Amino acid sequence: MEPFEGNILSKLPHTGTSIFAVMTGLAKEYEAVNLSQGFPDFPISEELIDRVHYYMKAGYNQYAPMPGVVELRQAISHMFQRNHDAFYDPDKEINITAGGTQALYAAITAFVHQGDEVIIFEPAYDSYAPAVELNGGIVKYARLEFPDFRINWDELPKMINKNTKMIIINTPHNPTGSILGEEDMKQLEKLLQGTDILVLSDEVYEHLIFENIQHQSICRFPGLAGRSLVVGSFGKTFHATGWKTGFILAPENLMKEFRKAHQFIVFAANTPIQHAIADYISDPEHYIHLGEFYQKKRDLFARSVASSRFKILPCYGTYFQLLDYSNISDENEMDFAVRLVKEYGIASVPVSPFYHDGRDSKVLRFCFAKQEETIQKAGEILCRI
Ligand SMILES: Cc1ncc(COP(=O)(O)O)c(C=O)c1O
Repeated sequence: MEPFEGNILSKLPHTGTSIFAVMTGLAKEYEAVNLSQGFPDFPISEELIDRVHYYMKAGYNQYAPMPGVVELRQAISHMFQRNHDAFYDPDKEINITAGGTQALYAAITAFVHQGDEVIIFEPAYDSYAPAVELNGGIVKYARLEFPDFRINWDELPKMINKNTKMIIINTPHNPTGSILGEEDMKQLEKLLQGTDILVLSDEVYEHLIFENIQHQSICRFPGLAGRSLVVGSFGKTFHATGWKTGFILAPENLMKEFRKAHQFIVFAANTPIQHAIADYISDPEHYIHLGEFYQKKRDLFARSVASSRFKILPCYGTYFQLLDYSNISDENEMDFAVRLVKEYGIASVPVSPFYHDGRDSKVLRFCFAKQEETIQKAGEILCRI
């Protein structure tokens, strides 16, 4: 095809190929053990697959209603009531989306106007800032404090002004595995009291939390729930990231605005998968053991690198483990990560691309949502470095 000859004024001039694609490409080229990709390499539940088959064969193959299949909205409502004692009305306060990213995008589109400021904590999941910028918003970057990646509650108030429209939080947190505790949420509650600032709470790893710690969903805090949109992802919960099915919860007046944007971005999510998940999550046994399941993998990974020269940073949730390599090399994260693929056959992700200014802390992210053999093999390699 001949290239377009006119002038292209990019809306995202600084966006290039994502680091995940780069590292995965390299991993393939060098046949490396791939702990860079943020998704599981093991099969998903047969029962869940059978439910999808069942609904496809039973003819549930046409558009779902715009807010989502009612049975799934009801099941999510029960799940939040059970887990957090929070009631979201299935008709007016819950919407099914084509994954967490789409929920985030539609929420930002619905509320962020030209010139509005949105606070994002770095390192940050890569979709937040472009979504704000595509909508004419201005990103204000707050930095999570290295090495435990906590919010600096003395600095945050200084970033808030009359233009602040939204704060995006993420707990459990990708890429660091940190979590927000009850005290953090109370600080946020106090800080936002009397303001019109919204909170977009990315909780896609809500079930992947360790040591029996209670996930502090924003919906547990009355002073926050009324100004917040909570985002979830069944792709993360049920090891089925390719299904791209998620949800968003918000009070009715926020949900009304969310739906105005959502209906013109995607209209509705996949019908048979929604029905299948509705059946599946109506049994809490299908999600209450996920923390334990991934904690075993986290611990196996930690044991397999214990005798290496890498330093293991704390990980309370998600399926990502950060390793500090400052004892091994002065190279920047990108160079070191590339060298690990080429010379040692192990792929990870540098954390610097999760910062707008490429901040380099000499840490790499490893995904431990992998089969035991993969984790052990990775550990053996890392111990040789
Ligand atoms: C923090 C965070 N939010 C949202 C998403 C996107 O979720 P989904 O795959 O359901 O779009 C991801 C996926 O990696 C993530 O890590």
